[in-house]
Amino acid sequence: MSILVTGGAGYIGSHTCIELMNAGYDIVVVDNFYNSKKESLKRIAELSGKQFAFYECDIRDKKGMDHIFKSEKIDAVIHFAGLKAVGESCQKPIEYYDNNVNGTLALCEVMKDNGCKKIVFSSSATVYGMNNVSPLKETMPTGGTTNPYGTTKFMIEIILADLFKSDNDWSVSLLRYFNPIGAHKSGRIGEDPNGVPNNLMPYITQVAIGKRPFLSVYGNDYDTHDGTGVRDYIHVVDLALGHVKALNRVLSKSGLDVYNLGTGTGYSVLDVVKAFEKASGVTVEYKIVERRPGDIATCYSDPSKAYEELGWKAERGIEEMCEDSWRWQSTNPAGYPD
Ligand code: NAD
Ligand code: UFG
Repeated sequence: MSILVTGGAGYIGSHTCIELMNAGYDIVVVDNFYNSKKESLKRIAELSGKQFAFYECDIRDKKGMDHIFKSEKIDAVIHFAGLKAVGESCQKPIEYYDNNVNGTLALCEVMKDNGCKKIVFSSSATVYGMNNVSPLKETMPTGGTTNPYGTTKFMIEIILADLFKSDNDWSVSLLRYFNPIGAHKSGRIGEDPNGVPNNLMPYITQVAIGKRPFLSVYGNDYDTHDGTGVRDYIHVVDLALGHVKALNRVLSKSGLDVYNLGTGTGYSVLDVVKAFEKASGVTVEYKIVERRPGDIATCYSDPSKAYEELGWKAERGIEEMCEDSWRWQSTNPAGYPD
């Protein structure tokens, strides 16, 4: 069984490649290295002990993608490739709509032309918008997104649902991730953001290694237990294992399914800082600053549907997430080499 992993060199993709090979799948990776390095592919091979096919190609390049489908026998696609920085998407909306939406359309067209109708898609909790109250359930309304990145995820969910409506042979799994953190136990692969990190955990780890002087905590006047924002952090390896379960399902039946991939537990920014300090033994300096525009107080999942239908639930707690993030950062202070 051969699975095409788009964006397989990236943070979540690299961890998923390993779990796919551990589960016995052959993989074919396509990436354009817009936000990743070739070194991550070497490390996937090192950790899995397996070789795999790799193509450097932009998913919008239909000819290049068609060549991959004609050269490899692809049974299904796990589609990670895309741009993901919320703030950047407000500065560069055209790039985000083009890469994420046009990229997915091009991919689906090539899949259809080659008779491959099974796809697992990286969606996001961001599609729930600002107005639903946590715990978030898959049945809640989506939309009302507050930035172009979130809107691309919302639009792609609609496109894939319409594709299924047009042809019920398709099998589509929309996975709404909450906040992935952590890294592979080995410390060999992890999150390697370009420039100043947008997300909480890579910022904390960069303060801890001395790359940045302090963490800015965006507001302590939210309606939460300590006033700081609450999120559902999920270990990236648990997330990767969720993809293996979703893949098993799309391979076994046609349909359109939506799943939250989260733990169901919310932690505040200061809870995460404390858990990280405990796990690493390093003090994280922080300052309370103004709220970040677009943030909500609380966002966490009801992950019960994924457990009931996929038999998946997150197993790793916040301590392990922090330990593994720290192992990756402390042994790779500059991220992956070029
Ligand atoms: P990432 O940037 O580490 O990985 C994305 C990969 O896709 C990179 O290797 C990049 O080079 C590649 N890529 C981008 N555009 C491409 C294109 N046009 N053609 C080929 N390759 C391309 O991001 P990640 O954190 O691993 O996220 C993976 C997916 O999950 C993304 O779609 C993201 O939007 C989604 N997601 C991420 C989070 C998160 O917090 N990390 C949360 C929710 C959803
Ligand atoms: N935060 C800080 N300081 C920082 C960074 C973040 O206080 O330097 C706070 C935020 O205000 C928020 C929490 O930490 O309360 C988490 O922020 P992140 O930026 O790590 O994550 P978000 O919940 O804002 O968004 C993330 C991804 C989105 C995705 C969303 C839901 O960045 O792409 O999770 O899956 F859509």
